[in-house]
Amino acid sequence: MTDALAQEVTELDANNGLKKTARREVAEALSRSVADTYTLFASTQGLHWNVQGPLFYSVHKMTEEQYQDMFEAIDDLAERIRTLGFPAPATLSEMAALSAIDELDAGGDVRAQIEQLIAGNERLAQGMRDAVEKAEALNDVKTADLLTERLGVHEENAWMLRATIAE
Ligand SMILES: [Fe+2]
Repeated sequence: MTDALAQEVTELDANNGLKKTARREVAEALSRSVADTYTLFASTQGLHWNVQGPLFYSVHKMTEEQYQDMFEAIDDLAERIRTLGFPAPATLSEMAALSAIDELDAGGDVRAQIEQLIAGNERLAQGMRDAVEKAEALNDVKTADLLTERLGVHEENAWMLRATIAE
C-alpha cells in the first residue's frame, strides 16, 4: 500500500496553450513576486506592531490594511504558480533568497521605517512591471492581469505611506 502522505511536490502538466518553457519563465517571475510580497508583508506587519509616537494610530491602521491585503495576494500569486504547473516557494529561507527587497531595519525610527516600506513597495511595483512585460510577451494574459492589479496596489501603498510623513 502506498503512503498517501509520502508525496513529493512536483511539476504538473498544465495544457493551457502555453509552452512549458514559457510557463516556467512566468512561474519564475511569479516566484520572485511572491518572495518580494512576503518580505514586504513581514516588514509591514512589523511596523504595525512596533510603531509608536504621534503617528501611531494612522500608521497602525494603514499597515494593517496593507499587510492583510498582501497576505491574500501571496496566496493568489503562489496558486498561479501551481496553476502553471510549478512548485511555489514554501519556506522563509526560499523567500529570503528570492526576494530583492530589503527587510525592515527594526532599529530605525518610525520615519526611517516608513521610508523603507515606501522603497519596498516601489521596488516591488517595478519588479512586477518587468514581470508583466515578460508574461505579456509570452502570452500569459492571466498572469499579466494579476500582476498589473498588484503593482497598482503597491504604487498606491507607496503614495499613502509617503503622504503620511509629508511635511
Ligand atoms: Fe494587529
